[in-house]
Amino acid sequence: MDVAQTAAIPDVELDGGVRIPLVGLGTSGLLGQPSVHAVSTALRQGYRLIDTASRYNNEMSVGMGLRDSGVPRGEVLVQTKLGGGDQGFDEAITAAKESARRLGVSYLDVYLIHWPNPTLGRMVESWKALLTLADEGYVRTVGVSNFKQHQLQTLFDETGRWPALNQIQCSPSLARTELRAFMADHDIHAQAWHPTGRKEGMLGEPEILRLARKYGKSPTQISLRWAVQQGIGVIPKSSHAGRQRENVDLFDFEFDLDDMTALAGLDRGERAARDSDVEEEF
Ligand SMILES: NC(=O)c1ccc[n+]([C@@H]2O[C@H](COP(=O)([O-])OP(=O)(O)OC[C@H]3O[C@@H](n4cnc5c(N)ncnc54)[C@H](OP(=O)(O)O)[C@@H]3O)[C@@H](O)[C@H]2O)c1
Repeated sequence: MDVAQTAAIPDVELDGGVRIPLVGLGTSGLLGQPSVHAVSTALRQGYRLIDTASRYNNEMSVGMGLRDSGVPRGEVLVQTKLGGGDQGFDEAITAAKESARRLGVSYLDVYLIHWPNPTLGRMVESWKALLTLADEGYVRTVGVSNFKQHQLQTLFDETGRWPALNQIQCSPSLARTELRAFMADHDIHAQAWHPTGRKEGMLGEPEILRLARKYGKSPTQISLRWAVQQGIGVIPKSSHAGRQRENVDLFDFEFDLDDMTALAGLDRGERAARDSDVEEEF
C-alpha cells in the first residue's frame, strides 16, 4: 500500500503542546518479524502512534518496522516505557537512551514510567529523570502508566509537575471514572490499554452486540468508539492488516446519550481493575 493512502486519525493536544493521535498501535506480544510487519503495515495504513516498552522485548523490531514503513520519522510518535528494573534517576536516564538506541531513533516522542512499583520507592526519582530528559529535549513528552490518584499526586507534590499522560487499563467494562475525572482536573490525558475489553469477556455483552447491530460495526469498534468519543486514546494491538483498519474506522458514527448510558452500565468498577498499590511489574 502507498504511504499516501492513509486513514485520518484525530489527535489531541497534550499538556506541553505535543499532539497525540487518539488511536495508536499496541505491540505487546509482537516479536521478531511479525512485529516488524505489524508496525510497518499499521504505519502504511495511517497509524502515527506506536506503543512499545522495554519490557515487551521488541523495541528493535518496532524500530525496524518504523524504517520499513517508509513513513518519515518526524510524522510518527514513538512511545515507550521505563521498566521496573530500571527505576531510579541515573538508571532511568540510561534506560531511555538504551530504548532509543534499540528503536534506532535519536529522540523519543513519549516516555512513560510503566508501573509505579511502590515497594521500590523510586517512582519520584524516576519521574525527576523523565522531567530532565524532557527538559533536555531528548524526550518530547513524559508521562506514566498504571498510576492511581494518590501516586499521581505524589509526583506533583515532589516536583510541581503532572504527567502529560497516564496509560491505564480502560474499556467500557473498566471505565475508571473517578481516576479519569482526577486526571481531567489536572490536564492528564487518558490512554487506554487493553481497550477492546475482550479479556473481560465484554465483547459478548448483549448491549455491545445491540450497538454493533445498530451502527453496523463490530463489537471491538463499539468498545473503541466508547473511548475515543470521550477523548480517551486507545492503543489496540493487532497483527492483521484488516483488523488494524477496523480499529481506526471509528469516526463515522456517534453514540447518543442513551447508548452512553447503556455502556456505562457495563462498568465493573475500580475494584475489577489491576491495582498498582499491590501489583508490580519489573
Ligand atoms: N501499560 C501497561 O501496563 C499495558 C498493559 C497491557 C497492554 N499495554 C499496551 O496496550 C496494548 C493493547 O492492549 P492488549 O494488547 O492487552 O489488548 P487489546 O489491544 O485490547 O487486544 C488485543 C487482542 O485483540 C485482538 N484484536 C485486536 N483488534 C481486533 C479486531 N478488530 N477484531 C478481532 N480481534 C482483534 C488481537 O488479535 P490479533 O493480533 O490476532 O488481531 C489481540 O489478541 C498492548 O499491545 C500494549 O501496547 C500496556
